[in-house]
Amino acid sequence: MENFVQYAPTEVIFGKGTENQTGEEVKKWGGSRVLLVYGGGSAVRSGLIGRVEQSLTEAGIAYEEFGGVKPNPRLAFAEEGVQKALTFGADFILAVGGGSAIDTAKAIAHGTANPEEKLWDIWTRKVPLTRSLPVAAVLTIPAAGSEMSDSAVLTNEEIGKKAGINTPFNRCRFAVMNPELAATLPAYQVACGVTDIMMHTMERYFIPGIQCEMTDCIAEGLLRTVIRNGAKVYENPADYDAMAEVMWCGSLSHNNLTECGRGKDFSVHKLGHALSARYDVAHGASLAAVWGSWARYLYQDQALGRFVQFAKNVWGISGEGKSEQETALAGIEKTEEFFRSIGMPVSLSQLGVQPGEQERMELSLDATMGDTVKLTRIRPLGAKEVNEIYQMAM
Ligand code: NZQ
Ligand code: ZN
Repeated sequence: MENFVQYAPTEVIFGKGTENQTGEEVKKWGGSRVLLVYGGGSAVRSGLIGRVEQSLTEAGIAYEEFGGVKPNPRLAFAEEGVQKALTFGADFILAVGGGSAIDTAKAIAHGTANPEEKLWDIWTRKVPLTRSLPVAAVLTIPAAGSEMSDSAVLTNEEIGKKAGINTPFNRCRFAVMNPELAATLPAYQVACGVTDIMMHTMERYFIPGIQCEMTDCIAEGLLRTVIRNGAKVYENPADYDAMAEVMWCGSLSHNNLTECGRGKDFSVHKLGHALSARYDVAHGASLAAVWGSWARYLYQDQALGRFVQFAKNVWGISGEGKSEQETALAGIEKTEEFFRSIGMPVSLSQLGVQPGEQERMELSLDATMGDTVKLTRIRPLGAKEVNEIYQMAM
């Protein structure tokens, strides 16, 4: 096992009706003037925003609305939010929604606490982040795991880049998680979420050469649980018990629990972010579209043992009568079969994008920050190798 720090300080308030505790929670964590950040309207239509606002009022908390966050949230919109928070005198930023609303709320918190700095300078670490405002979330979609993660992702439309920042200031003070709130999700968003949850776990799993039995058991159990229950909520998002499992998996997949002693890789995310920045495709779908190609590119040699263990312990594939390569490949195929069964793309054309040769190279440069960063902890991949993976994914 490698040395590690485990720090996941978010208070989780889980279960039916918990959104009605939001006001008291904000008060407990010291907030008195809240900027309420939400998306394109699903939370208004379901009546959730009304219930959250009532809960804030009952707790004596003043609030101002800031709705309209789009999926793959934009820097410019977060900057507008900073201005709104400053004018209102917000001392607490509350997101109602999924990764896009939560990440926008995190960005607004950083920008509001540092009004003299440009938000993108903070984002790209040109300026160190040393203070922020408290952030919390009422989660409506199990997917990004932002409610417990130390990361936030924004798209800078001006330069066509999607990038994340990891900092302890990104940790939500509390996360309200009521699986009932996800019952209104369209099947496609459910599938994107299930895929993202799997991928957060798998991006930490395939790193070879480190013994980590406990962390492996957690990761494999999480994957089996989200696959089994993901299939159920894809059919019926109102299945409370199944949605509860998926929602809890979502938070645990990305609060660092599944990387203790092994670390993380997140190379598939780099490939996916480049696609989302350029084509505005849904995050989960961008990952499903390239994962199979990424896996086939890397499963041999050092990583073979990890792929064999994945096939056996996650998919229950027997190694009997098969070579290790055949077992590993069977696990990759099973994963793609699952993605297809929940309507996810397993190629770029199924994702609806057909980059030409030049565009593919540009995507590869975006994913590797101009060929300055080597991806994967299996073996180092530069822009040329990433381009080969995109080519395989065509
Ligand atoms: O905007 P509204 O109208 O709310 O609709 C949203 C949106 O269209 C809809 N939705 C959410 N809850 C709903 C609902 N529709 C009906 N009923 C509900 N209960 O779902 C759509 C997607 O929402 P979004 O917030 O974009 O989804 P998700 O949670 O998947 O977030 C994706 C974003 O998070 C980033 C991704 O890159 C992407 O930008 N990520 C953030 C991470 C983090 N901060 O730790 C890690 C992830 O790897 C990821 O990169
Ligand atoms: Zn993700």
